Amino acid sequence: MGRYRIEGGYPLKGTLTIRGSKNGILPVLAAVMLTEGETILHQCPFIADVFLTMEVLEQLGCRVKWQGRTVTIDSQNCISTAIDSKSVQKMRSSILFMGVLLGRCREAKIGYPGGCEIGMRPIDLHLKAFRKMGVKIKEEKGLLCCDGSRIVGKKINLDFPSVGATENCMLLAAKAKGHTTIYNAACEPEIVELQTFLNKCGAKVKGAGTDCIHIEGVKKLHGTEYSIAPDRIEAGTFLCGAAITKGEIQLKNVCPNAMRQVLLRLGEAGCVIKEGKEEIYLKAPEKILPVSKIHTGPYPGFPTDMQPQFMTVLTLAGGTSIISETVFEARFKHIGELCRMGADIAVEGQTAIIKGVKKLHGAYVSGKDLRGGAALILAGLAAEGETVVENACYVQRGYEQIEKSLFSLGAKIFLE
Ligand code: EPZ
Repeated sequence: MGRYRIEGGYPLKGTLTIRGSKNGILPVLAAVMLTEGETILHQCPFIADVFLTMEVLEQLGCRVKWQGRTVTIDSQNCISTAIDSKSVQKMRSSILFMGVLLGRCREAKIGYPGGCEIGMRPIDLHLKAFRKMGVKIKEEKGLLCCDGSRIVGKKINLDFPSVGATENCMLLAAKAKGHTTIYNAACEPEIVELQTFLNKCGAKVKGAGTDCIHIEGVKKLHGTEYSIAPDRIEAGTFLCGAAITKGEIQLKNVCPNAMRQVLLRLGEAGCVIKEGKEEIYLKAPEKILPVSKIHTGPYPGFPTDMQPQFMTVLTLAGGTSIISETVFEARFKHIGELCRMGADIAVEGQTAIIKGVKKLHGAYVSGKDLRGGAALILAGLAAEGETVVENACYVQRGYEQIEKSLFSLGAKIFLE
């Protein structure tokens, strides 16, 4: 499983270039299967979820070729319309191939994604929207057998601005007959990225970034060349690392506007932040200031994917902070581990009350999910003594060699 061994007490200092976004590239890779031709993607991060998605593309008939961070994918042939349960269980975003296979082949057989470490992760919103668009869905032995022979564009209203459901509807509608409108759509930057990519392939999508997206179905989509946008959550994670270690870092290849809430909250915590067009500079305060009520929420609210990392910063604040997690029902699993390192955090339902302490001490802790594991690494960077963070595999799903990036900024961290 691998583990990180960290000697705390070294401030992060220096410059780091941020890589392509995990949550940006995964829907784009699914969208490649909608096209018939060759697509070249630049800035692809070397992370487990990307490698898993490439395996799915190859199972479906694509030819995939890596050259550094550039991947060339030939999606001319589609030899299967089934995604096995193993792939979907291992990686929830495989559910996006449901919209893709129905869009391209008018049929799909896909395993039901289970819950995961941060919650039940149902797909009822996906299924409700697909049925509205005429997809016949039968569940047989945990497999969703879908008949899309009669799909047609419709007005879809999402009960919740789900990122995945928005993306799946865009992928299904891109080649469905007629016009689809998605109301109460997610507004995340990754939705805009998917629209940009689809339109470069010949689709007709507009409105991404707002809560109303319009899609005019087309018959065929072609390949294209595209560069994945930087990972706003990876960037935020490293900024939190500098904040908690009293460091000073410069990030390159970032999009400050996509990180507005995180930057504002880090400023409230006492950090000095300077923004360039594609750069962010952060200098940490001597003492972190407590931050009043933070609610995670759909974009442009404070991102749930930054909740564990920001909470870790607040464990050393000079006062009490409050964070409410409104998106996922089980995203507080890092709190018990942080408390074993000396943090003082109480939980009331979906709200955490973080009383700042003078210091954290090293401990043997266990990552329970991707962002929680990253948060424990940040705690280890600031803690006195040695910390071991178990279950590196969770962190490696979304961060490319985080130990090398942190080491290059002066951290004493090793992957075992
Ligand atoms: C995406 O997950 C991201 N993953 C998540 O990032 C991110 O936390 C999440 O969006 C919210 O921003 C990828 O992009 C690969 P949702 P997704 O559908 O699409 C409920 C990370 O750490 N819901 O917006 O699965 C759901 O249970 C990961 O990088 C339903 O009830 O998120 C959750 O409570 C973690 N029914 C809420 O909506 C549905 O049909 C938000 O889920 C779908 C979702």
